[in-house]
Amino acid sequence: EAPLRIGVAGLGNVGATLVRIIQKDGEELTRKLGRKITVTAVCARSRSRDRGIDASNLEWFDDPVALAKSDSIDLFVELIGGEDGPALAAVKAALEIGRPVVTANKALLARHGVNLARAAEESGAQLGFEAAVAGGIPVIKTLREGLGSARIARVYGIMNGTCNYILTRMGNEGISFAECLADAQKLGYAEADPSFDVDGFDTAHKLAILASLCFGCEIAPDEIFVEGITSISQADIKVAGDLGYKIKLLGIAQRSADGIDQRVHPTLVPKTSAVAGVDGVLNAVALETDHVHELLLAGPGAGGPPTASSVLSDILDIARGTKVPPLGVPVAELTPYRRAPIREH
Ligand code: HSE
Repeated sequence: EAPLRIGVAGLGNVGATLVRIIQKDGEELTRKLGRKITVTAVCARSRSRDRGIDASNLEWFDDPVALAKSDSIDLFVELIGGEDGPALAAVKAALEIGRPVVTANKALLARHGVNLARAAEESGAQLGFEAAVAGGIPVIKTLREGLGSARIARVYGIMNGTCNYILTRMGNEGISFAECLADAQKLGYAEADPSFDVDGFDTAHKLAILASLCFGCEIAPDEIFVEGITSISQADIKVAGDLGYKIKLLGIAQRSADGIDQRVHPTLVPKTSAVAGVDGVLNAVALETDHVHELLLAGPGAGGPPTASSVLSDILDIARGTKVPPLGVPVAELTPYRRAPIREH
């Protein structure tokens, strides 16, 4: 069988890690798959930066759209980021010619997911996005394949590793917000613009995607009530602790009588709860269903290796011919949406 040739647009933390993993584990992956997989082409702003990858046999593109459409690849990986601009243009271009796409771009999917899913459906292309929600946790697969007929009543969780890292260290070590954020940036957890993390919008993007999958509702990030963690002080954390709580930034979506409530805000969680034990860069997604009651998936939510690992799992599914779970639902089935009231968790 012909090798699966991968093109990677965006060689930041996640992109460079992905290329390194495929270059290092290429033989083992090939053995597992029975088909050679290889990164043949890349697109990045700087060609000279040392990313620890073997660039000798890579074809370089300056334009991600040209890479997305190039005949030298079979699968396009978008790790550029950003909700519009080159990421959107390139993903669209690949899907329109029926080329499979894997992306970790939650902002893009939150904004344009339904249109992209439609483009994928029309051309028969696959669109993998496991890495877009909760980094290394296989939550998208679990939702589509692991729950049988269970009806989900509520999905909630810690969906931003940067915020959870900051809140954990502020609480445990008394370190300032600014210092914790700077460390999260150094460790490669934060977004290029970290206000997306700390103001709660990254969580809202992920929640909007999850809610759409859980409830078949519109992906509507602008309709979510969003409050970030920038006004949380050490005193807040201390008082919460004295009362038996931790403060976590939660994304919450649940069925209500007249639609789906969706909100993101710092929340007091009892120290005895499972979600309170999820500290540091870890994320957790809780699914409350009629059959399995509460399922809690926890694991690394940000950073190069976990996120690249989820990207790779979509690539392997596509290489095996397994259908990756589709995003979105037919528009006719969309549940009416209403703005969430602020409510105690
Ligand atoms: N900046 C994001 C986070 C990366 O901290 O969770 C993973 O989506």
